Amino acid sequence: MLSMKNNSHYNLFFSIRLATLICTITSIILFILSYFIERSFENYTIKQNIAELDAVINTMQSELYARDYLDSSNNNRFEQNFSLILASHYRLFVYIEDKAGHVIFNTKGPDLLITKQHPEFYQLMATGKTGIWEHKNHSYRIAVAKISLTDDNQYTIIAAIGREQQSHYVSHLHEGLTILIIITSMISFVWTMAAIYLTQKPIERLTTRIQSVTSKHLNERIPLSIVPAKFIGIVHAFNDMLARIEDVFQRQRNFTADIAHEIRTPITNLVTQTQIALSNARTTDEYREVLYSNLEEYERLSKMITDMLFLAQADNKQLTPELVDINLKAMFTMIFDYFEPVIEDNNISFDLEGEDLIIEGDRLMLTRAIYNLISNAIRYTPSGQTITVSLKHLNKNLIQFIVANPGKKIAPEHLPKLFDRFYRVDKSRQRNGEGAGIGLAIVKSIIETLKGKICAESDELSTRIIVTLPIKNDYQNEDDKLRY
Ligand SMILES: Nc1ncnc2c1ncn2[C@@H]1O[C@H](COP(=O)(O)OP(=O)(O)O)[C@@H](O)[C@H]1O
Ligand SMILES: [Mg+2]
Repeated sequence: MLSMKNNSHYNLFFSIRLATLICTITSIILFILSYFIERSFENYTIKQNIAELDAVINTMQSELYARDYLDSSNNNRFEQNFSLILASHYRLFVYIEDKAGHVIFNTKGPDLLITKQHPEFYQLMATGKTGIWEHKNHSYRIAVAKISLTDDNQYTIIAAIGREQQSHYVSHLHEGLTILIIITSMISFVWTMAAIYLTQKPIERLTTRIQSVTSKHLNERIPLSIVPAKFIGIVHAFNDMLARIEDVFQRQRNFTADIAHEIRTPITNLVTQTQIALSNARTTDEYREVLYSNLEEYERLSKMITDMLFLAQADNKQLTPELVDINLKAMFTMIFDYFEPVIEDNNISFDLEGEDLIIEGDRLMLTRAIYNLISNAIRYTPSGQTITVSLKHLNKNLIQFIVANPGKKIAPEHLPKLFDRFYRVDKSRQRNGEGAGIGLAIVKSIIETLKGKICAESDELSTRIIVTLPIKNDYQNEDDKLRY
């Protein structure tokens, strides 16, 4: 739990760092953007002021021309015209004088004549550019033009426009953009924190649930309801994995319990028989009898331990088959011969049908597997009936043999479990038979070691164990494997 807490501290630290980073990047980008917006807006207003000054000077020029050539008598009318022109321009001032220095026209406002004292004045006049004039806490953009209509009719026009309006707009824009940057940065911080929280929370919940899975709670599954849709795939996979682990754990537990149980029975028998033998004085023959009986139990134990060791080796993939060519039909015949005395006693017969099959396999392993299958078949075949073994090629790579024996039908739910360790359909039969229920488990691990498959079928007519094996042991064709 402590680690969980540290983890969430770490997560908070991480979230804040990430959010700060994103917030900083957002602010920087917005800052750069707003700088360019402000600059271009400023340039735009400057261009507008210059255009306005130009327009006014041009109009004045035409008016002066009209005044000199068309109607020089009515001075008043021209002043009126000048005033009319300027009426539509806010804070635009004009001063006009003629060659002799007489004032032709002057608007109320700043004394534009003062600008003549600045050396830059003549520069402006020569270049036709505009300049900035600071006067009595006000700032103006000014333009100066010298107009020569004739040698006598020469005029100087000074036009100035107040820049307050322009800088007022720019500073307004600046304020607006600054507020925008602050709000956007704050939103991006909060948004990032929220986004991290929203994605982190389900992961934390998931982690807590996963941490609560222990070997004692393997039956727990992560509920799909606690995670968002995008994690459902992972949770499914995790739950499936848990199911597989639980299954293995369960088998392992059962296996240990089964071993203890299977070993206890013969040991108890040995203890009881020995105690009885020792409780009174016995003749040599009686002792011999007890020892024979004990020997049987020792052999049962020994066989069981050998089988278990074999299975343990198979589990650890320590079984390495010694590959030789094997004639399966010949092998079956040999094993039938071995069981001849037993089947005669039980009045059972064998029928071996099918082709001569040569496959690559381990002689000892295959003998052991077939021996187990035939001894099972003999045990469950009613007296007077026949065990049938059939061999055939499935295709050029695979062969199949089926060991079929008549007898009681095995219910379908038992069929897949027959190959489990210690699994017996009828638990009570153990003392009559000899096996502990690991015969088919061994057959299965042998067949799988030889890269084959095994399954069981059963109906009223017979019970059939079906084995498929590759002819060549290094055979690896995925298409054929699917047909198993
Ligand atoms: N040929 C068969 N006919 C009917 N039942 C079978 C046959 N082979 C196996 N079984 C069933 O499968 C169980 C497991 O077989 P096996 O692993 O060989 O164990 P065991 O022979 O020690 O009982 C048997 O207990 C029996 O119930
Ligand atoms: Mg058996």
